[in-house]
Amino acid sequence: MSSKMYDLIGVGVGPFNLSLAALLEGNCEVDAVFFDQKPQFDWHKGMLIVGTRLQVPFMADLVTLADPTNQYSFLNYLSQKNRLYPFYFLQRLDIPRREYNDYCQWVANELDNCRFGKKVVELDYNESENYFTVTVEDVHTNEQATYHSKNLVLGTGSIPVLPKTFQGLPEENVFHTSKFLENQDRCRKAKSITVIGSGQSAAEAFRELLKERMEHPYKLTWITRSKSFLSMEESKLSVEQFSPDYVNYFYQFPQEKKDEIFKTQDLLYKGISSHTITDIYNLLYEHSVSGEDMNLGLQVLTEVKGIEQKGDMCEIQCHQWQQDKDFTHESEVVIVGTGYRPNVPGFIRENLGSYMNWDDQGRYEVEADYRLRLNIPNQIYVHSGISHSHGVGSTNLGLAVHRNKVIINHLVGREVFPMHDKNVFQNFDADKFNQL
Ligand SMILES: Cc1cc2nc3c(=O)[nH]c(=O)nc-3n(C[C@H](O)[C@H](O)[C@H](O)COP(=O)(O)OP(=O)(O)OC[C@H]3O[C@@H](n4cnc5c(N)ncnc54)[C@H](O)[C@@H]3O)c2cc1C
Ligand SMILES: NC(=O)c1ccc[n+]([C@@H]2O[C@H](COP(=O)([O-])OP(=O)(O)OC[C@H]3O[C@@H](n4cnc5c(N)ncnc54)[C@H](OP(=O)(O)O)[C@@H]3O)[C@@H](O)[C@H]2O)c1
Repeated sequence: MSSKMYDLIGVGVGPFNLSLAALLEGNCEVDAVFFDQKPQFDWHKGMLIVGTRLQVPFMADLVTLADPTNQYSFLNYLSQKNRLYPFYFLQRLDIPRREYNDYCQWVANELDNCRFGKKVVELDYNESENYFTVTVEDVHTNEQATYHSKNLVLGTGSIPVLPKTFQGLPEENVFHTSKFLENQDRCRKAKSITVIGSGQSAAEAFRELLKERMEHPYKLTWITRSKSFLSMEESKLSVEQFSPDYVNYFYQFPQEKKDEIFKTQDLLYKGISSHTITDIYNLLYEHSVSGEDMNLGLQVLTEVKGIEQKGDMCEIQCHQWQQDKDFTHESEVVIVGTGYRPNVPGFIRENLGSYMNWDDQGRYEVEADYRLRLNIPNQIYVHSGISHSHGVGSTNLGLAVHRNKVIINHLVGREVFPMHDKNVFQNFDADKFNQL
């Protein structure tokens, strides 16, 4: 039991809270500590496939967009590792995902305010003295300790979605893309593999399996509900929607309108990077060279309704929704790329739920400056589960740094990081257009 009173305790150390921890390091106005259940920092470990790239420029590192002089910048990481020249000659903005992870691990190891192997299991609020109690369990010893803090920041990220009708099957045969790398050996031994979904995760798994198929000749199929293997919207003017300007524009709408807008924006966060589709097409072409049976199949417009284990094989129940036709497909291994959902741990609702405001869909209400709308004087800042309030860019790495600027400014009560109204070329708000 620690009687010390922190200014801020962070739950989870993914890139979003790690960025906040890095920006707060050395700030004597905020005494903060961050806990993560993992033994060390790891960013979507099962998907760190060699050759995959970050979907944002390296400048969306943990600090640069807030403070380019910060010692925890990606460029300083390169410098400390004596890799500046190779990066300079590489001439690329989109760094390998493995390198981003290594960079974040370097930052996490440098910081004093991040604790790993520590799972937050309970949050409580002391109403008479106005502070939060955070119960933390050591994942190795199971010992619990409690900490006190005036404010909290939730950065618990997302969790893989495995539809109910795909659950309860042998994990070595049916697994989510988030466990791809740990099951790669299993895939190499399989006679047939099917990938479900056509987001970036499914595409990266399919591309890797296509490459490996040159040596491991399994039958490979790819099934998606999407109407096509759609390309992500990556044009320069489109990605200006991942800007503070767009967040501010989006935030002002009533919730119903926000939900309506969000539904039209799926290609900003779903879909496949065009370079990944190009790689896949080139590999398919390579496989077709001999003119023999390719033993490959790609099926769009098809929802997988369920999976059943039958002997050594999985029976995949499919529905082609445009033709309204059902069919089944057999595969030894099934890799499920059906995406992620926000991770809002039960304990947030259990003991603190009554202090929050919830909308009619059970989502918490969030202020423009990323504080939960609470009926107590203390603050809970949130990174996770805010797409409904702050829009499509909420899970974007670059915008997380902007969010941390807002959070720090609010926490400290003054503009530590200057904010600018106009950051991009285009305009979203009609009222502002004629003021140009
Ligand atoms: C495979 C994949 C690739 C992506 N690539 C990109 C990209 O290239 N560019 C981009 O802009 N976005 C990308 N995203 C979007 C995503 O939002 C970010 O990658 C990022 O991981 C979000 O960071 P986070 O800190 O919110 O969450 P996470 O990275 O999910 O981290 C959350 C952390 O909280 C910890 N945690 C949860 N509950 C507890 C608890 N009770 N106690 C202690 N710790 C807890 C977890 O252990 C975890 O470490 C990608 C997403 C996925 C799934
Ligand atoms: N290199 C990288 O940086 C990288 C790597 C991986 C992921 N990411 C990011 O992480 C986020 C999540 O990506 P993701 O690919 O995991 O998920 P996703 O983008 O949500 O894609 C899920 C896919 O599964 C399909 N699907 C869902 N249920 C299905 C069913 N029952 N049957 C058939 N298909 C089904 C969806 O179709 P519908 O379109 O019909 O819903 C969609 O094609 C994205 O923002 C992505 O950009 C980035």
